[in-house]
Amino acid sequence: MLYDKNLLPFAIQTAKEAGSILMDHFGNIKSVNRKSSKIDLVTIADKNSEEYILDQIRKHYPDHNIIAEESSPRVKGSDYEWIIDPLDGTTNFVHNLPIFAVSIGIRYKKRTIAGVVYNPAVDKCFWAEENSGAFLNEEQITTSSCSTLSDSLLVTGFPYIYDERSIIFDLFEEFYKVSQGVRRLGAAALDFCFVAMGRFEGFWESGLQPWDICAGSLILKEAKGKVSDWDGNPMPYSGKHILATNGSIHDEMFAIIKKF
Ligand code: IPD
Ligand code: CA
Ligand code: CA
Repeated sequence: MLYDKNLLPFAIQTAKEAGSILMDHFGNIKSVNRKSSKIDLVTIADKNSEEYILDQIRKHYPDHNIIAEESSPRVKGSDYEWIIDPLDGTTNFVHNLPIFAVSIGIRYKKRTIAGVVYNPAVDKCFWAEENSGAFLNEEQITTSSCSTLSDSLLVTGFPYIYDERSIIFDLFEEFYKVSQGVRRLGAAALDFCFVAMGRFEGFWESGLQPWDICAGSLILKEAKGKVSDWDGNPMPYSGKHILATNGSIHDEMFAIIKKF
């Protein structure tokens, strides 16, 4: 055993408890704050969920590093690093759309070793541990076997920063023309998981952050999918440019992205 095997069960339990905090606020958000841009939102639910997760980690793993969306990084010089999005899909949450999740990724020596993405609105918990497959609740999941872009359903997201949007819409138009359709759901962590369970064949987005992609990337990889950046580097830490697919259509999507 190279790393602590109790981490995944602890992360699953913590994600579920944070999810229940989100549900206490769901449908009942009275005030919304704006962050870096006018559409980057944060609510008391984001804050309370994050506070709970950080408290649990500090209590059980006091020397671990933590990167969490709503707080400053906690750097302890540990080999372990937790990457946390306490509420992925805040805009959906604010509009009472039940497509949102808690995302917890765990890295060891700069490799993602475990990930949990939990959507409390439908009690769906996606999880994976390195080299052990990917699961939705108790069932193992794998990507779809579809092997051509023309038969594929895709999903994407739009970044909060306006500058990046022209390429976003160019790519959107191109993928819309060559696939069976493109969806935009508003929670990147779930976009990865929906590719992992075969609902979508491919997902691309730019301007994401490590906490949007860490857990979802591992879940997808363990479901036999493929994750790279737009230069082809596998399993990126940064979410700047993401391509995540069932594996079979990766090269076809990659070739289109390279044209832009
Ligand atoms: C956002 C969601 C959305 C994506 C944005 C993310 P947040 O995360 O994942 O799908 O398009 O770029 O920032 O702000 O709701 O945690
Ligand atoms: Ca997010
Ligand atoms: Ca968030």
